[in-house]
Amino acid sequence: MAALPEKVTIIEVGPRDGLQNEKESVPTATKLAFIGKLVEAGLKHIEATSFVSPKAVPQLADAMEVARGLPAAPGVTFSALAPNEKGLDRAIESGIRRIAVFTAASESFTKKNINMTIAESLAVFAPVVSKALAAGLSVRGYVSTSFVCLYEGDIAKEKVLDVSQRLLDMGVDEVAISDTIGAASPKDVFDTVGFVLQRIPRDKIALHFHDTYGTALANVLAGLQLGIATFDASAGGLGGCPYAPGASGNLATEDLVYMLDRMGIATGVQLDKLVEASTLIASRLNRRLPSRQWQRLNRA
Ligand code: HMG
Ligand code: MG
Repeated sequence: MAALPEKVTIIEVGPRDGLQNEKESVPTATKLAFIGKLVEAGLKHIEATSFVSPKAVPQLADAMEVARGLPAAPGVTFSALAPNEKGLDRAIESGIRRIAVFTAASESFTKKNINMTIAESLAVFAPVVSKALAAGLSVRGYVSTSFVCLYEGDIAKEKVLDVSQRLLDMGVDEVAISDTIGAASPKDVFDTVGFVLQRIPRDKIALHFHDTYGTALANVLAGLQLGIATFDASAGGLGGCPYAPGASGNLATEDLVYMLDRMGIATGVQLDKLVEASTLIASRLNRRLPSRQWQRLNRA
């Protein structure tokens, strides 16, 4: 087996991707308690909320309150999505120090998700990224539907490289190549991410997997074999995009941490504490979670 990374950075997206698709409104205090538990578990990168249109994602309409209520946690970077200048201005006002802009490699998904073409989204993001950097924030970029799109099917790897490169050229420091509908297989990861890596250094790439077909951990292994060392995951395996119907939750952070622990790859995350975070949100959502680790420890 090729040498794998010795340590992995986990970007915890549970409070954002995990909760954005939940129908019942989750109180701000619950979101902050969940985030507090994730910090206690040792997560150092937490996507806390989204400064998007509250009409598009009502669940995250309290983004300002969440961002302002974040715990003082030295060494932890909190971030939030921002799709336009209005989102950036709200992010700056909230005090958050990192934003993420998000587009896709499929025109149809981009239109449904942010009501823009890919070209329009990049034109909107360029001044947003410049203004964010000038204000001292850092910026991540997402490329959704990098492998398969619900509306367009298989996605060309050339398109993923092109959109990723454009995001990096405008100043994002990391591109999250994303399997929005959780349909990719390890072969897709080798093909598409392997192609992207011919032009973009691996330390600029993160992988964001949903787990609709149960392939997310296998896809992580493919990513590790390509030398990628940053992975997104969501506590409990919550998640999904309101604009990608049928897609299920993100790769569960517990399942990722278990596998990496077992492989001797450091994450800095304590599995038992992480399960406590998931249990907290499960009890407030009043349902069981998809995470294998959580289910093992919480037998019905
Ligand atoms: P639009 O309707 O084309 O935009 O939406 P607009 O500029 O015409 O604005 C419409 C209304 O929204 C206006 O209010 C604006 O002021 C307001 P009104 O005049 O009607 O009262 N508005 C805002 N309010 C607060 N914050 C803002 C903001 N922007 C406009 N930032 C827009 C375009 C992009 C705003 C909208 O489509 C939107 O917010 N979309 C976000 C969708 C979303 O959050 N999707 C989920 C996140 S992406 C994801 O999950 C994938 C990911 O996980 C990776 C993966 O898995 O692939 C990241
Ligand atoms: Mg996602």
